[in-house]
Amino acid sequence: MTNSYANVKELLLDRDPQLPVYCIYPHVYRKSTRHFLDGFPGRVMYAVKANNHPAIIEQLHASGVRHFDCASLPEIELVGKLCPDSTLYYMNPVRVSGHARAAQHDFGVRHFVVDHHSGLAPLLEEINPAQSVIFARMAVSHESALEDLSAKFGAKPENIPALLTAIHASGAEPALAFNVGTGVTDPAAYEYAIGLAREALLTLPFKVRLLDVGGGFPKNYPGYNVPALDDYFSRTRLAAQSLPLADGGELLSEPGRALSAPGLSAVTRVLLRKTNRVYLNDGMYGAFWELRFRGHLQYPCRAFRGGVPMTGETKPFRLFGPTCDSTDEMPAQVELPANIDVGDHIEFGSIGAYSLSGRTDFNGFYSDDVISLAGEFAEPPQ
Ligand SMILES: Cc1ncc(COP(=O)(O)O)c(C=O)c1O
Repeated sequence: MTNSYANVKELLLDRDPQLPVYCIYPHVYRKSTRHFLDGFPGRVMYAVKANNHPAIIEQLHASGVRHFDCASLPEIELVGKLCPDSTLYYMNPVRVSGHARAAQHDFGVRHFVVDHHSGLAPLLEEINPAQSVIFARMAVSHESALEDLSAKFGAKPENIPALLTAIHASGAEPALAFNVGTGVTDPAAYEYAIGLAREALLTLPFKVRLLDVGGGFPKNYPGYNVPALDDYFSRTRLAAQSLPLADGGELLSEPGRALSAPGLSAVTRVLLRKTNRVYLNDGMYGAFWELRFRGHLQYPCRAFRGGVPMTGETKPFRLFGPTCDSTDEMPAQVELPANIDVGDHIEFGSIGAYSLSGRTDFNGFYSDDVISLAGEFAEPPQ
């Protein structure tokens, strides 16, 4: 259970926080999660890696998520404890020895993934194939992704039929998965990947029931404009109609960013100002680490003084994190009040994805202060 305030003003007046505070807007998560669950034409698994903070997992669960894509046994243990009524999936082709066994034995996990023949035998030693679904992960890359996820994982499409045949022969249910990347800016990427999946599936002497189209569903950020999620849903639905799936065929997805980004903000404090340089108490080694990806350069923001939003003339500033490293600078200049100064606070919105998971305590700067802003009219910066 997190502390709760009505809005940022109340938080700032009550606490005048020195360290970063991460603020959950529950109504924003409820709305964005509902939109995804209602719009995607299939089963929706939340990719826990995008934000593994217990408060976020609980919030997404409270918003309706019941399927969780986990990358490791610790993620399975975490979600299993927080959401015992949910279904957990172990969707990483790389596993620590013994962890698939524990996932199945202790948490009832039935879904696993491999992307190479060499990964299949060790998995089969640990699980009961008759009770398992094993996905073959196909490598698909598309130029519209913020980050290509096929460089490391995934079998070439031409090798997929042999891998699915080996899974079929093992007694497990074979299924197909791909991941077109993260932050995918063109829904055509999913049509393209589904086309490749179709070609592979047509060569098989048996049918598969499940196709997992992965994550990648994007979020708008300033200067990073993407089509509406509904475009992704409708084009995926249409493309999937041509798939030769078995009876009871179903699509699955693994959205991380789209579910976790919208409802979290970071309230930071200005520690130092030198002309056009502002030094914050959070940065590239903290919750802003994802800004190293090409394309996504900043979050929406607003400044507060004494709990009150600052208005008036603005100008561009360079933003630095608090550590000694010169690379601890955000990639884009940000428009802020011209008189911004030490002790003012800056709130960054839409920061739920790839922020809390992955932050470090480099140089001793770290905060795990997560609160909830539950006021009826509280809105994050958009
Ligand atoms: C296997 C897998 N599934 C899902 C995701 C989630 O991607 P996104 O946050 O873009 O939806 C990732 C991201 O790295 C991934 O590697």
